[in-house]
Amino acid sequence: MADMQSIVILTGAGISRESGLATFRDADGIWATVRIEDVATPEAFRRNPARVQAFYNARRRQLLDPAVQPNAAHIALARLERDWPGPVLVVTQNIDDLHERAGTRGLLHMHGELLKARCTGCGRVVPVTEELTQDFACAGCDGTGSLRPDVVWFGEMPMHMAEIEQALAQADLFVSIGTSGNVYPAAGFVDEARRAGARTVELNLEPSEGARLFDEARHGPATELVPAFVEELLRA
Ligand code: APR
Repeated sequence: MADMQSIVILTGAGISRESGLATFRDADGIWATVRIEDVATPEAFRRNPARVQAFYNARRRQLLDPAVQPNAAHIALARLERDWPGPVLVVTQNIDDLHERAGTRGLLHMHGELLKARCTGCGRVVPVTEELTQDFACAGCDGTGSLRPDVVWFGEMPMHMAEIEQALAQADLFVSIGTSGNVYPAAGFVDEARRAGARTVELNLEPSEGARLFDEARHGPATELVPAFVEELLRA
């Protein structure tokens, strides 16, 4: 594997599960208790901004709880980036900051970030570590805009797609970690990587929707699979 220079890693909610953050589609996942239509669409925000803000405020409060820390999988990916001779890009669907806190630098949040807010008027993005209410006005424009979570809702365009497509087209190795492969465009990345000639590996608790598309699939907890896989890559 040592001749594999460029690595692209896609992560999903499963990589943060052992840090105490819920996934979406597991039996105890977020969508088991809340409807996407009520909290994760632009229409939901127009219809009832207070409800949407409350949903993200609760998730932000949990993320800021000192008990929630990067786990061995996040830390292993930061080690890979540090010790691998070629470029390593982490593309995450997650809106938590656990990759950053583990030390990963080459990182793209394609679904946005829970600790940022965006003005609905001027588009200005600001860091946010407190409660957002629907009348939290932007300080940057004429005050007509209000701050919304800087996350990508269903029906909105994912972020950084040009950069992601370019990285996939040049990937030698594509690793998908902790994602069910239910949501596009992320679920289609394995196809793009294969077309670019990359080796494709899935590391997930159980087979994802797209497991058969991967050259190799390993199933188990991320905190076991990811450090072992990184060790293998660095030892090869
Ligand atoms: N280790 C590894 N994988 C795990 C673990 C674990 N400890 N726990 C759960 N998983 C796996 C599950 O088996 C599942 O395949 O993580 C995956 C989580 O899938 P989802 O809950 O669908 O989360 P994700 O794939 O990230 O969802 C994608 O959908 O709702 C939107 O915007 C949301 O970014 C999210 C997107």
